[in-house]
Amino acid sequence: MKSVKISTQKTGLSGTLSFPGDKSLSHRAIIFGSLAEGTSHFTNVLPGEDCVCTRKAFEAMGVKIKSSKDATELTIEGVGLKGLKQPKSELYLGNSGTSMRLLMGVLAGQSFQATLTGDPSLSSRPMRRVADPLRQMGAQIDGREGGNFAPITITGSKLTGINYEMPMASAQVKSAILLAGLYAEGPTRVKEALPSKEFNQSRDHTERFLTYFGADIKVDGILISVNGRKSLKWCSFPIAGDISSAAFFMVATAIVSGSKIAFKDILYNPTRREIVRVLDRAGISMLEVSPIKKLGPEEAIDFTITPPSDLLKAFEITRDQIPFLVDEIPILCVLATQAKGKSIIHDADELRVKETDRIQSMVSQLSKMGADIKAEGNSIIINGPTPLTGAVVNSFKDHRTAMSLIVAGLIAAGETIVEDIECIDTSFPNFFELLSSLKLNYKILTR
Ligand code: S3P
Repeated sequence: MKSVKISTQKTGLSGTLSFPGDKSLSHRAIIFGSLAEGTSHFTNVLPGEDCVCTRKAFEAMGVKIKSSKDATELTIEGVGLKGLKQPKSELYLGNSGTSMRLLMGVLAGQSFQATLTGDPSLSSRPMRRVADPLRQMGAQIDGREGGNFAPITITGSKLTGINYEMPMASAQVKSAILLAGLYAEGPTRVKEALPSKEFNQSRDHTERFLTYFGADIKVDGILISVNGRKSLKWCSFPIAGDISSAAFFMVATAIVSGSKIAFKDILYNPTRREIVRVLDRAGISMLEVSPIKKLGPEEAIDFTITPPSDLLKAFEITRDQIPFLVDEIPILCVLATQAKGKSIIHDADELRVKETDRIQSMVSQLSKMGADIKAEGNSIIINGPTPLTGAVVNSFKDHRTAMSLIVAGLIAAGETIVEDIECIDTSFPNFFELLSSLKLNYKILTR
């Protein structure tokens, strides 16, 4: 087991940071590049373990992918929608829910059978949310407990488009259905789960990629429809920096006094920028904001963050906003411990079924550090500001819990040990390199 020891950060953080490619975008670049006709080229792809699993799965199905030494540049010889070949063995997807759910959608319409496996965490995450709509389309899906848990075996079938009303806001589920829709006869229509006027979608990367790669797709507010059997065409573009990874450093900058960090080429998709609005409500504004840059189907910006001159303000996150912050809630819990007043994160149900139960992991571990934090049902209530104290805490093998606790360690008195940090490699393999580039005090312990 690997752990890290962090000491209180006594000086401000300063520098300019760029981040590895966004995880959601990197998965989709590999998937769409593989299914397109022609050769696609992507730069700044995330070389994290999750995306490597997606890449290996497509390579095992006969796609030729050339990679630079550091695995951030990929050249993918697309095989077309019908060009995948049956893999010779099971496809192991490690810790990656996105790989498993999106692949289920792709495999549903093939003419062969394949089995998807994962690590213990992935094997305990619910897959029926994807299996159910795919079965309605005609897919044959088997797995433990009625196809709810991996190993999942998908026997490719003839698919027919459906009209599907999403029971939960999940980009992974929506994406799996739209990918299966590429193989279906007739239109596949998905209606998003959220009724709110302001927030009516989950992350929309798949819709953007489908449009950019030339699929027959229509997005009309909360209704998305795709007509299948139209080939996709190769594309090449750089992947924007992962805003969910940048969020750890955005919050670190805001809570370590005297800091100033410039963030470069950060994904600024409207369904991902809610973190910026929450920071603004807490009193942290972005400075030196660049014009929006177009990077293929997505958008990116540069900005600078410094801590506010007054105390941070408590904030609330409503149920509607959760899908746009689903990966940032753990680090926002850390921020809330330093904000004046009562912060409430309402109805974060989906956090219960992430790589670990992130409500439980953050409440239990931040409590050990002295935070005033509790769960009420699926909501999290945090009173602040509270001085944190170093403690021995555990990630529960969840990358976002691990990185959030490391950031908490920067402002905790004394030393903090965060155990089980190998999981950070799933989404942010150069996390510690960035800490080093900011001259932060940490020591990796192995036992
Ligand atoms: C993702 C969607 C999100 C997010 C995950 C990546 C995606 O999950 O938590 O890290 O790439 O589609 P949901 O399915 O809960 O939206």
